[in-house]
Amino acid sequence: MTDPVALFGQMDIYLLDQLLRGRIRPGMAVLDAGAGHGRNLAYFLRERYEVLALDSAPQAIAAVRHLARQLAPHLPAASFRAEAVEASSFPDHCADVVISSAVLHFARDEKHFQSMLDGSWRLLRPGGMLFCRLASTIDRAHQLAKSGLDEARRAIGMLRDDDLPGPDKLAALAWSFEADSGIPCRYVETGQSVEVRPAVKLALYRVAQEGLTNIRKHAHPERVEVRLEYLRDGVSLAVEDFTGSQDEPAPAAAIEASGGGYGLTGMRERAELLGGTLTAGPTGCGFRVVLRVPA
Ligand SMILES: Nc1ncnc2c1ncn2[C@@H]1O[C@H](COP(=O)(O)OP(=O)(O)OP(=O)(O)O)[C@@H](O)[C@H]1O
Ligand SMILES: [Mg+2]
Repeated sequence: MTDPVALFGQMDIYLLDQLLRGRIRPGMAVLDAGAGHGRNLAYFLRERYEVLALDSAPQAIAAVRHLARQLAPHLPAASFRAEAVEASSFPDHCADVVISSAVLHFARDEKHFQSMLDGSWRLLRPGGMLFCRLASTIDRAHQLAKSGLDEARRAIGMLRDDDLPGPDKLAALAWSFEADSGIPCRYVETGQSVEVRPAVKLALYRVAQEGLTNIRKHAHPERVEVRLEYLRDGVSLAVEDFTGSQDEPAPAAAIEASGGGYGLTGMRERAELLGGTLTAGPTGCGFRVVLRVPA
């Protein structure tokens, strides 16, 4: 019997599982975003996948290049780069599979975590697979556990389905909000629909989710609207609730101070990373959150 180590090297067992399920197939571009010394790459190199790798440690990349020279001498040295995933020089959507195995827990804080995750998504082609594994105790960052890990968990669930939630899921989100809460929720889409970047898709979905969660937590409106508008240079999403009464809007400072929550702050950071903006506040007869991002 063939020695499994000779065949698969020290490949992560869950990555091997994906391989055995036929989800990583010959001919695919596999990018290891935090390759270390290449434990996950030996098989792909030998089987002539298009292998790309990055790691912020130059000695790790030196080891990967050494391995590649032995197993896949046709691959150029530039396929293996000493750089951070959040500042990678690889082009957008260059990989069918991005491996992020025990990498994200090196994040210094929530913002760094988010930029590492966004950097990983950027490298992935639409519909590709992000194999993301976190194996760590992250006790120093409460926020990480609160939003970042949640995000990663959703990312993993989502990728199992090979399906990035995005604008096409907004109508269903509005519908399930209405079904759970009993509050009428209308979904409206206007403008000429265009394909948006994967990270923008996800942001649209996350902002709608957070806006609706906030309505459940903080408001008792008569009705709700989720509006997606395709603009000439981007896309805008509004989540708005209407109470019917014309109260004076609460001062913005009261909002900042009221919950000390991370939801809107996280969404604002996400919007800024995408070159967009997020605004939120009372309208006089409810509350409105608006995300606007370039497509
Ligand atoms: N639909 C809404 N109606 C009234 N107030 C709202 C609404 N959405 C948000 N707010 C106010 O804005 C604050 C900030 O919202 P944010 O989502 O950032 O935090 P949170 O929901 O309190 O906590 P977290 O999202 O971290 O669980 C809330 O605490 C609340 O006071
Ligand atoms: Mg919230």
